[in-house]
Amino acid sequence: MTSSSPTPAPIDQLAFWNGEAGRQWTDFQDTLDTTFAPVLQHMLERATVRPGERVIDVGCGCGAYSVVLAKAVGASGEVLGIDISSEMLARARARIPTGAPLSYLEADAASHRFAAGHFDVLVSRFGVMFFADPVAAFTNLATALRPGGRVAFACWRQPRDNPYFMLPLQQAYKHVPKLPEMKPDDPGPFAFAARERVEHILNAAGFGAIALEPFDTPLDLAGGQGLDHAVAVALSIGPAGRALEGQPPEKAAATAQSIREALGPFHHGDRVDLPAAIWIVTAVKPA
Ligand SMILES: C[S@@+](CC[C@H](N)C(=O)[O-])C[C@H]1O[C@@H](n2cnc3c(N)ncnc32)[C@H](O)[C@@H]1O
Repeated sequence: MTSSSPTPAPIDQLAFWNGEAGRQWTDFQDTLDTTFAPVLQHMLERATVRPGERVIDVGCGCGAYSVVLAKAVGASGEVLGIDISSEMLARARARIPTGAPLSYLEADAASHRFAAGHFDVLVSRFGVMFFADPVAAFTNLATALRPGGRVAFACWRQPRDNPYFMLPLQQAYKHVPKLPEMKPDDPGPFAFAARERVEHILNAAGFGAIALEPFDTPLDLAGGQGLDHAVAVALSIGPAGRALEGQPPEKAAATAQSIREALGPFHHGDRVDLPAAIWIVTAVKPA
């Protein structure tokens, strides 16, 4: 009889983002807003959102991007943030600027029945890689856009090019067992890492003018709050935290020490800048 490792069960995204992940992202919201600010700035330039436009922010989380978009579209425009995490949406709702043309919806973007053709632009910062059936999800999202409507989202490139993610995990693996191996197409942060797959998904969903622009940037893991904070973030957000789940405190302490040492070369002042590799993906719904 041959033995093979069991296929890990797919992560239940609704439970995941309404459980520990949603809590951690909400707890570290101010840090993550600072960490991902360079991505937001770059995306805003690529999305070319204009006053009066109607925008959907898919997987809006705690709303950092939605708030900036609402300012860009102004009083005559409209921004809808959609997310499945009630905790993250509660934070997003609590920080809607007075009078901003911004609302939030707790729903699955893959299947929600949007007002057909109502929106000009669909954006997302790291919120579109979690669909079980991405072609069906993007086909559904396309219904929300008017003909000629635009898409602009950010997603991660390959794990090996993203020390921001992988350095903490590699340190954790010195002390705890490896997480079950995911297949490259499994929903998760790296599901859109392969250029050909993203092109296929958007093409099959009916989009044209598909372009993937690599964006390489340091991301400050500490969010400007120093090395201790960076270690706390690394142990909470992302795969290192998952690898440590259920492990005894001494393993967590040993991992924290390893992460601290590994972050040393990237630490300067209150920042801990780790390299990150991102795609900025743009596409258009044919007119
Ligand atoms: C990595 S977080 C990014 C959050 C936010 N865009 C940001 O940049 O801070 C991914 C977000 O996608 C949301 N999400 C995952 N699957 C979703 C789905 N099917 N529909 C709507 N939101 C989803 C999660 O709840 C989470 O808030």
